[in-house]
Amino acid sequence: MKAVIPAAGLGTRFLPATKSTPKEMLPVVDKPAIQYVVEEAVEAGIDDILIITGRGKQSIEDYFDMSYELESVLHQRNDYDTLEQLERISDLADIHYIRQKSPLGLGHAVLCAKKHVDDDDFAVLLGDDIIISETPCIGQLVDQFRAREAPVVAVGEVPREAVVRYGIVDGEPVGERLYRVRGMVEKPPVEEAPSTLAVMGRYVFTPEIFGFIEEVEPGRGGEIQLTDAISAYNRHHQVYAYRFDGRRFDLGNKLDWIKTNIELALTRDEYREQLLEFMRGKTSS
Ligand code: G1P
Repeated sequence: MKAVIPAAGLGTRFLPATKSTPKEMLPVVDKPAIQYVVEEAVEAGIDDILIITGRGKQSIEDYFDMSYELESVLHQRNDYDTLEQLERISDLADIHYIRQKSPLGLGHAVLCAKKHVDDDDFAVLLGDDIIISETPCIGQLVDQFRAREAPVVAVGEVPREAVVRYGIVDGEPVGERLYRVRGMVEKPPVEEAPSTLAVMGRYVFTPEIFGFIEEVEPGRGGEIQLTDAISAYNRHHQVYAYRFDGRRFDLGNKLDWIKTNIELALTRDEYREQLLEFMRGKTSS
């Protein structure tokens, strides 16, 4: 199984921070957002990872590469702890890169992986969602994929007013946490949403999905939508949705980014007490 991580977006929701830094490299607590996603794939046993990049994304490649200059300075200083941290990052996985030349949408970004994926099944992980769970979310999906022998998308319940921000699944419950997909629609208006089950940025596909991406017309926002390709595939083949076990943190906009940083920092022993104290001081004044 290979993993594909689309990271070609322009990050316009995060300007000006993303003017010269890729959104995927913005820190969440103490490491770049994309590292959480790469680690999730690696923990699920996937070590062949293709990152779809675009112009201005060079720092992602540098990040997962070795940094001889830094490493030799750390050696001289006998700072072996930091050195080990750096080496761990460059040894994480076998990471490949390809560029999406124009920002034509998520479906199109995934299509850029076609040659690399070839005849293999593959996972897709989007960086807007950090998912913290005992068993990595993508691993839970891979298990379902193998058991059902059909593509699986991760879903979670969202408030009704939030459906306009997600791919929404029309699903028939067929087991604990499992739904047979009857249809999917990208960012529907509230009154047209078939449910409040939202796609949470994790998917497992067979390579057949590429043919469907190639056929779909531009959809919501004039972009080639992955949701539309899954929906077209689903007219011919079974697709499942799985309500994964875990907590999902949203990085989709600035406010959610700030909340995610606070929530994740609160899960860390080294920051928790001092952060709580700081926030108590702020709220009582
Ligand atoms: C994308 C997908 C959408 C999904 C969402 C999850 O939208 O198109 O179906 O629900 O990610 O994060 P985006 O947030 O990139 O606009």
